[in-house]
Amino acid sequence: MSEFIKVATVDEVPVGGSKLVEVDYVRVALFNLDGEIYAIEDVCTHDGGPLVEGTVVNGCEVLCPRHGARFNIRTGAAVSFPAFEATKTYAVQLDGNDILIEQPA
Ligand code: FES
Repeated sequence: MSEFIKVATVDEVPVGGSKLVEVDYVRVALFNLDGEIYAIEDVCTHDGGPLVEGTVVNGCEVLCPRHGARFNIRTGAAVSFPAFEATKTYAVQLDGNDILIEQPA
């Protein structure tokens, strides 16, 4: 069973916003899509671009700021060239105002 760790508060990730957190040296990007918080590894699988700095497009995709690959924030799937592999996703739990994510493996 996964352990969940507090990484931020809901106020720190407003609707449409994002926030970088780090857990055990793993960079994780939090996104708030219409009030739902999602967590994906902050690493573009093309060449390591920082996804937290990307623009959210099409409601649920983030555009890598380096070369424009798009990832589905809900599933981590790479949805456009030049990335082909998914980035990791982490389960999210809310505890009041606290955001907890599954401990990265
Ligand atoms: S590093 Fe993300 S598209 Fe190249």
